[in-house]
Amino acid sequence: MLNKNILVIVTGGIAAYKMPEYIRRIKEQGAKVKVVMTSGAKAFITPLTLQAVSGEPVADDLLDPQAEAAMGHIEFAKWADLVVVAPASADTIAKIRAGLANDLATTLLLATPAPVAICPAMNQQMYANPATQENLNVLKQRGFNILGPASGEQACGDIGFGRMIEPADIVQNTLNFFIPKQQYFAGKSITITAGPTREALDPVRYISNHSSGKMGFAIAEAAIEAGASVNLIAGPVNLTHSEKINRIDVISAEQMHEAALTLSKSSDIFIACAAVADYRPANIAEQKLKKSDEDMTITMIKNPDIVKDVAALEKQRPFVVGFAAETQDVESYAQQKMQRKNLDMICANDVSIAGQGFNSDQNALKVYWQGGSKDLPLNGKNILAHDLLKLIHQQLNA
Ligand code: C5P
Repeated sequence: MLNKNILVIVTGGIAAYKMPEYIRRIKEQGAKVKVVMTSGAKAFITPLTLQAVSGEPVADDLLDPQAEAAMGHIEFAKWADLVVVAPASADTIAKIRAGLANDLATTLLLATPAPVAICPAMNQQMYANPATQENLNVLKQRGFNILGPASGEQACGDIGFGRMIEPADIVQNTLNFFIPKQQYFAGKSITITAGPTREALDPVRYISNHSSGKMGFAIAEAAIEAGASVNLIAGPVNLTHSEKINRIDVISAEQMHEAALTLSKSSDIFIACAAVADYRPANIAEQKLKKSDEDMTITMIKNPDIVKDVAALEKQRPFVVGFAAETQDVESYAQQKMQRKNLDMICANDVSIAGQGFNSDQNALKVYWQGGSKDLPLNGKNILAHDLLKLIHQQLNA
């Protein structure tokens, strides 16, 4: 971090009181820090406090002739090697998405060529609001790094996602920015299935499950960062992805099966993260089914097992990784599944534990391969995705 320039933008949120800790620690690592505050931030912490810890005058006014004479705002935006917005309020996130430049903080964010890390901090309802979610998704697509938020008790008494990640975690992420990214999968092709499938009953109804697709999407993003070319075969999910990913949208297990078998033949690695429906209705009614009898019986037939069929390829077989969502005897069921489907690796998660697995942003995995295993403890799905890819890389080269 020696001589790296970090521009810290503090916006209005109670977590602002934690920022001196971050600034102190990052300075200990040798970084140079300048702080910009929004007017909202000053309601939570004084400029004097941040000036004392950063050792630099705190800037807050776009139209201050004295500050402009010392370092114009464009020069200031160019000075930064990394911009950290923490805490990032819902308001600031919305302004960045819209490209507003009506104060010093937003002007610098629009003008900087540096990477930007955003640490959202707000009430859980504000975070869950579709407006905020959409804003963050758009920023993610534009290449902003969204760190957190964490889940837990909030200053307002609510419980849920919205807390700013801890200063120590922001420090860790800041250090990570300056570690050259290892492109250990450069030249490799990875195909991933993600999300649920939908099995039609009639033109308006289907059978499906609660898979969000978040784990598969996180693996796809991590694989891109590791230098791979990525095919992401996605069931119906409400997620966005970076442009570098080749996304193929499918609805049913049969469609997913066809895409997976075609693409996995030209892939080095196949990761089956999707929650595929095991059965589908034997007949899809042409017209909407009518309510008549008291009971209704649907005959279901078995869907193809995608990961098993990929693992059974005789020619052009990739390294095959499966997932096993279990609620009991996780290890023995996962091991049996790995043998039965002839997988090279299986990632077991206990979906009976609240807050991890299906639909959550967090997960914990127990990974097994022929002759070994490793626990990947509870973590954000994006961090887990990187850990899993490193394990796959180790096994491929073992
Ligand atoms: O047998 P089970 O559904 O528990 O196995 C889970 C693993 O198998 C996951 O990797 C899942 O993506 C894959 N699978 C599949 N095709 C199916 C069912 C499961 O690829 N029809």
